[in-house]
Amino acid sequence: MIERTPFIAGNWKMNLNVDQSTALVKAITVGINDISGIDVLVAPPFTNLFAVRQAIGKAGILLAAQNMHWEKEGAFTGEVSAQMLIEAGCSHVILGHSERRSLFKETDEMIDSKVKAAFLAGLKPIVCVGETLAERENGKTFEVIKNQLKGSLKYFVDKGDMPISTTLAYEPVWAIGTGRTATPEQAQEVHLFIRNWIKETFDQNTSDQIRILYGGSVKPDNASELMSRPDIDGALVGGASLKPDTFMGIIRF
Ligand code: PGA
Repeated sequence: MIERTPFIAGNWKMNLNVDQSTALVKAITVGINDISGIDVLVAPPFTNLFAVRQAIGKAGILLAAQNMHWEKEGAFTGEVSAQMLIEAGCSHVILGHSERRSLFKETDEMIDSKVKAAFLAGLKPIVCVGETLAERENGKTFEVIKNQLKGSLKYFVDKGDMPISTTLAYEPVWAIGTGRTATPEQAQEVHLFIRNWIKETFDQNTSDQIRILYGGSVKPDNASELMSRPDIDGALVGGASLKPDTFMGIIRF
């Protein structure tokens, strides 16, 4: 059986100033000192990336942005490119988060352009998919997830090759910030569906290696049950990633 390194990622969203961000990442640095065999990532707002990179120093915490634009440069007021994120110290970028999809009207096509630009620049994408409550209640979960995967990863699908450094995140919209977590069975069912889709679309090796994170009200007290499921390789954590104790509680699942 393939062993995938667990991956815990904190999505800070539009929270924390520079001082709070550096204090938090320093606390995580200390907290993970005696832990190995797990990848830990933080995704601060753009304005704090550089300071957080400095605060991480030589500690093995990975840095991601929460979004980016697909163009390299130019007249795109308010946007940030992949190269700029790399220069700020990022190795990863979160793309297609449901808040980007719903609040900022990002389409699968836009997300696919971002995935392609990130890949070509050398940034590793963390691509999010997830259904709304209405879609789940109407029995549309798998159809929605499949369409989001096909659309948001079209560049890789057309190439017939998805780098194994790509991370996928299943985040049911109804579980984000609501305190309503998908049960480990509900999450595992969708994760397995995603893994099978990867196998059918690419190959067995890619499907064995790609990490699929669960996101949506992950807390220290539900992390280990979720993580015990075979196709759940980690967590994309919002609210509980903003405090050292709760984030460390999840990392120590
Ligand atoms: P939450 O957010 O943990 O606060 O539910 C998860 C996310 O949006 O990535």
